[in-house]
Amino acid sequence: MLQQFIMLTLMLCTIALTKTVEIPFVTMSNGLKFPQLGLGTWQNTEHPEAIKSALDLGYRLIDTAFLYKNEKMIGTALKEYFEAGNLTRKDVFITSKLPYYAYKPEDAEKYIARQLESLQTDYIDLYLIHWSMCAERKTDKDEPVTDNDGYHVPCNVSHSEVWKILEKYYEKGTFKAIGLSNFNETQIQTIYDQAEIKPHNYQGECHILFPQTKMIEFLRALNISFTAYAPIGSRGRDKSNTRSDGDVFEQTPVKELAEKYNKTRAQILLRNHLQRGYTAIPKSTNPKHLAENLDIFDFELSPEDMKKLDNIEHKRLFIFDKAIKSPEFPFKDVVDEFADKPLTL
Ligand SMILES: NC(=O)c1ccc[n+]([C@@H]2O[C@H](COP(=O)([O-])OP(=O)(O)OC[C@H]3O[C@@H](n4cnc5c(N)ncnc54)[C@H](OP(=O)(O)O)[C@@H]3O)[C@@H](O)[C@H]2O)c1
Repeated sequence: MLQQFIMLTLMLCTIALTKTVEIPFVTMSNGLKFPQLGLGTWQNTEHPEAIKSALDLGYRLIDTAFLYKNEKMIGTALKEYFEAGNLTRKDVFITSKLPYYAYKPEDAEKYIARQLESLQTDYIDLYLIHWSMCAERKTDKDEPVTDNDGYHVPCNVSHSEVWKILEKYYEKGTFKAIGLSNFNETQIQTIYDQAEIKPHNYQGECHILFPQTKMIEFLRALNISFTAYAPIGSRGRDKSNTRSDGDVFEQTPVKELAEKYNKTRAQILLRNHLQRGYTAIPKSTNPKHLAENLDIFDFELSPEDMKKLDNIEHKRLFIFDKAIKSPEFPFKDVVDEFADKPLTL
């Protein structure tokens, strides 16, 4: 009798653990459905199993970029996953991005072709211009040209020229939506005003130390959907391009709310994004974290508690200081603080 009871409990636990979570979505201006929670993959070049586990758990959005050097790994993981009969390509939303040293039209075309080949797909759901600042590329390498001090040598390609390439692939159906990342409002507005196809999405750094409230309002007015990168504060971030101080998990309201709601700090932070009404893409390769980050749909932060997470500080973690000499460098706050400081690695 006891043995039967234990067996039944184990079975129920297994069913509960393997239950796939249904993630809500936002609808882009062109009608495309965009999951509100996705999987970040920056700094995951070695864990294809994390991609498959995430899909098992219910993640349906995967965020990558040429710069992450993992599109081949992701393409192979997806192919194997589909071949095992689990999902099909249309069930998964892939976001990728054009590297900043490939904005010259002939380069952009080449890199897009390589990305499609690596991802083993004939379309990408959302394709973004990764940064507003463009750099010259080394002829024989996927790397920017740098000056003697390590700064990127800017290249002379206008945003509208690069945008036209994205529009072309959108019109062909190769990209289902197109957008921008790491631009400022003026730059976004200029592209928006000149574009045949208006941007569908903007991806920007966003967490409680850098909540992007004004940017999100600006984007809403233009009907551009928003993706929050570094949504739980990019704890394991690479030193290059980023500032080292700023720990989102250590903020007092986060600790207090985690205790109050009996949730983890990551869950409080992700629930905050969800209730603000846009998409967040936490990265993890840890099975426990992958499941934890999805387990945010069974509680709600009160309006008063949401306020406690508002405007704690304004500290951008991603500074892209090597590109600071570009005439298109978007962030004045970074120039003011970092122009005279030594470069990050
Ligand atoms: N457009 C851009 O320029 C840009 C820039 C940065 C990032 N992104 C995108 O946004 C994604 C997310 O940003 P991010 O990776 O910088 O930072 P993030 O998602 O805020 O944080 C990821 C870090 O948190 C850890 N983590 C994840 N879940 C956790 C949990 N439940 N508890 C404790 N730690 C946890 C991860 O480690 P484990 O793996 O060990 O869990 C990793 O070290 C990127 O992966 C990338 O796809 C885009």
